[in-house]
Amino acid sequence: MMDLSNLKQLIGGHRQGHALAREFYTDPAIFEHDMQRMLLRHWFCAGHISSIPRPGDYLLVDLGSESVIVVRTPAGEVRALLNVCRHRGSRLVTERSGKAHSSRFTCPYHAWSYDLDGNLMVARQMPESFRRTEVALKSFPVRIMEGLIFTTFANEPLQLDSAAQALARSAGVHGWAAAKVAHREMYSIKANWKLAVENYMECYHCTPAHPEFAKRHVYARPAEQAVDLERAGRTRAEALGIVVPDIDLYGCAAAAGRESVAVMRSALHEGLASATDDGRSVAWLMGEFSASDGNSTYFDIGPISDFLAYPDHGVIYRFIPRAADHTEMEVLWLVHQDAVEGVDYDLTRLTWLWKTTSAEDKKIVEMNQAGVNSRFFVPGAYSLQETYAGRFVDWYLQELNLPIS
Ligand code: FES
Ligand SMILES: [Fe+2]
Repeated sequence: MMDLSNLKQLIGGHRQGHALAREFYTDPAIFEHDMQRMLLRHWFCAGHISSIPRPGDYLLVDLGSESVIVVRTPAGEVRALLNVCRHRGSRLVTERSGKAHSSRFTCPYHAWSYDLDGNLMVARQMPESFRRTEVALKSFPVRIMEGLIFTTFANEPLQLDSAAQALARSAGVHGWAAAKVAHREMYSIKANWKLAVENYMECYHCTPAHPEFAKRHVYARPAEQAVDLERAGRTRAEALGIVVPDIDLYGCAAAAGRESVAVMRSALHEGLASATDDGRSVAWLMGEFSASDGNSTYFDIGPISDFLAYPDHGVIYRFIPRAADHTEMEVLWLVHQDAVEGVDYDLTRLTWLWKTTSAEDKKIVEMNQAGVNSRFFVPGAYSLQETYAGRFVDWYLQELNLPIS
């Protein structure tokens, strides 16, 4: 493990427009630093509101070694509670999702019991001096935007105004507030989180690594080969009155006191209504779409929450950094909340492309990590099709230098 006094030197040695040095992708001390400097200070998506419709419904959300219970309260609000008992620190909950029994979280160790707002309700055999009403689970801020649940560990959370506006013009247009999660997959990736995010940020790899994606998405092409197809996509959107402006506040973040956000539209190939096996829509049209405009909308909030919307379905990508060499990726497929599986949509068709693409991504990111682990690895130059990956790396290095808030 590296001595962090060397970190400044390592940052100073970074070559602009190049991948990071090996240690950034391998060193456990730098991973801890990443947690403090970047991951804990930003907002991240915890899931979709449709997953916890009733009081007591909860999701467990992890980041590094932290674990948070995201729960619907009797008042209908959503709380994010640290999954650490206030007695001697046991985890309260271990299932990934569920329903709190009798509207309580009861610790499996000594049975301290908390209500859904995190207040301690029962603690047996405590001394008289113990003040039960002064004890509650640690809670974190929650913000629901267009059906997406966001939370943060930051003491002083970054402002979400720009992010909320951007989401209204992207997820909002796509009707995500009235969506439901149709399917979930979890990918365990043996790689550093930055390799997984960099991979998501660039489509230089799309043509060689994702043949099915590349057949459907103009985004896989170099910009100069995509001009006419993108123009045709914009014309189709205009004809339907669909307005999703490109927004670029990616990586602005902590220094400016506001959360990073970006929205980008890109066309599907001519004649395709959706990114499916046969190009036809797979589910009901959503939001403002009266017909498919044959485009896709990519948007990102913060460093590890990414989204992709088609006119008839959506995909949430949650990157979950776990350790220097381990990242999980949760993929959630969204459809209209009233659509019925097997009647209004076929789950196999719905999930086919992003199951295929995510399995490919896991493989290439793990191969990337294996290569970067070499003591002889020298960071190479990003191509013109990897400017967003380069931008992510610049942002990351900036954040390492910011004071902790
Ligand atoms: S650690 Fe939870 S009740 Fe003791
Ligand atoms: Fe990919």
